[in-house]
Amino acid sequence: MIALGSDHGGYDLKEVVRKYFDKKGIAYKDFGTFSSESVDYPDFALMVAEAVISGECDRGILICGTGIGISIAANKVPGIRAANCSDVFSAKYAKEHNNANILCMGGRVIGPGLALMIVDEWLNAEFQGGRHQKRLDKIKDIEKKYGR
Ligand code: RB5
Repeated sequence: MIALGSDHGGYDLKEVVRKYFDKKGIAYKDFGTFSSESVDYPDFALMVAEAVISGECDRGILICGTGIGISIAANKVPGIRAANCSDVFSAKYAKEHNNANILCMGGRVIGPGLALMIVDEWLNAEFQGGRHQKRLDKIKDIEKKYGR
């Protein structure tokens, strides 16, 4: 199950992703927003991040205008590794090396065709573990150092 969320800046692209999942039969839960009316991206980042951390959803996709604000907000939740990707190469390695559990994109940065390629790449990639796990453990240590 994939958690989907966006603010108004990412709403149109979220709709593209949502319809793509419908077509492909990929299960998702849409946390909104549900229109182009102005909202605050941290609210949607938090809902999707908590759905992933709680195990309600396996992973998440978050979209705002640039992908920046919504990724910053999601990464405040301990255990979240949200990667803002605008290219297919980064999407692949966000999973293979960083085990990113949330993919972020900028609805005002990339077009729908590239976005769906990025989504596919990230969904199909597999975390490689090994030396990369050691680095993720160090990220966890940083969270612990700051009481998160
Ligand atoms: C909203 O106007 C915009 O600031 C937001 O979508 C995002 O780009 C923030 O990082």
